[in-house]
Amino acid sequence: MNGILYFSSTGNSLFVAQKVQQRLSGELCYIPAYKGNGSEYEKIILVCPIYSFGLPAHVFDLLPRLRDRKVYMILTYGGMVAGADRLAYEYASENGLDIRGVYTVKMVENFTLTFSTPSFYNKAALRNAPGEIEKIIASIRRDDVHIPPEKKTKRRDYERNKANWHMIANDFSVSEDCIRCGKCVDLCPSGNITIKNGEIRFGQSCVACLGCYHRCPQKAIRYKNRIKRDRYFHPEVNEADLGKDVLYKGDHD
Ligand SMILES: Cc1cc2nc3c(=O)[nH]c(=O)nc-3n(C[C@H](O)[C@H](O)[C@H](O)COP(=O)(O)O)c2cc1C
Repeated sequence: MNGILYFSSTGNSLFVAQKVQQRLSGELCYIPAYKGNGSEYEKIILVCPIYSFGLPAHVFDLLPRLRDRKVYMILTYGGMVAGADRLAYEYASENGLDIRGVYTVKMVENFTLTFSTPSFYNKAALRNAPGEIEKIIASIRRDDVHIPPEKKTKRRDYERNKANWHMIANDFSVSEDCIRCGKCVDLCPSGNITIKNGEIRFGQSCVACLGCYHRCPQKAIRYKNRIKRDRYFHPEVNEADLGKDVLYKGDHD
C-alpha cells in the first residue's frame, strides 16, 4: 500500500495529497500525528509546502524516521522554489531515504502576513495546478526517477529561518473579534496556542504554518497589529478533512 504523508495548513498540499489518493490509492496521514517509520508502506508520497526555500519543521523532523524507505516528494509553493526541491532531495539523501523524485506544484501563496497576492494570480494558480498534479501522478505511477539537478540551494538561509520560526507567534495578537471558540488551539500542529482565563496565549513552539491566522473564523488573529482581512484556504478542500482524525487536542477551558 502507498502511504501519502502530508503536511498542510491552508489546504494546498492536502488538495494534492487527495488527488494522489484518488489516482494511486493509499492511506492519507497527517504528518504531525504520524508516529510510524513508513515500514508499513511500499511507497511513500510525501506532500508538503515549501517554507523559506526548504521544508516545514514537522517534515524536516520526519525524514530521519524514513531511512531506507522508497519516497517521492511533492512540494507546493506560492512563488519561488529557489532550489527547495534540490535541498529537499539533499536532506532526504543525507537521512538515508531511497528518494526517487522531488516534484513542485505552483499553488496560492499563503505567507501573506505583510502583503497580498493579486486575485488574478491566485486564480491562475488554482486553474493550472490540477494539470500539473496529473502529470506528477502519472510520473510517480510509472515509477520514474525524478531527481532535481544539482543547483544552488538556500540551505543556510533556510536553517537560520527555521531556527527563528518559533518567534513568529510573538507578533500575533487577537482582536476584540475573538469569540474564544478554541479552533486555533485545536488546529495548531505544535500545540503552541492555549486559552487561559479566557485569554488566547501563544507559546514558543510556533512552526510558522499560519494555520491559526488563515483559519480563524473571525479573522481575529493579527500580525504586528495590522488590520488586514484577506485570508486563504484552498477553495476545493473541505477544511474539516485537514488532519481530521488526528487534530492536535490542546488544553483549553
Ligand atoms: C513560513 C512559510 C514560508 C514559505 N516560504 C515559501 C517559499 O520559500 N517559497 C514559496 O514559493 N512559497 C513559500 N510559502 C508559501 C507556501 O509554500 C504555499 O502557499 C503552500 O502551497 C502552502 O501550502 P498549504 O496550503 O498546504 O499549507 C511559505 C509559506 C509559509 C507559511
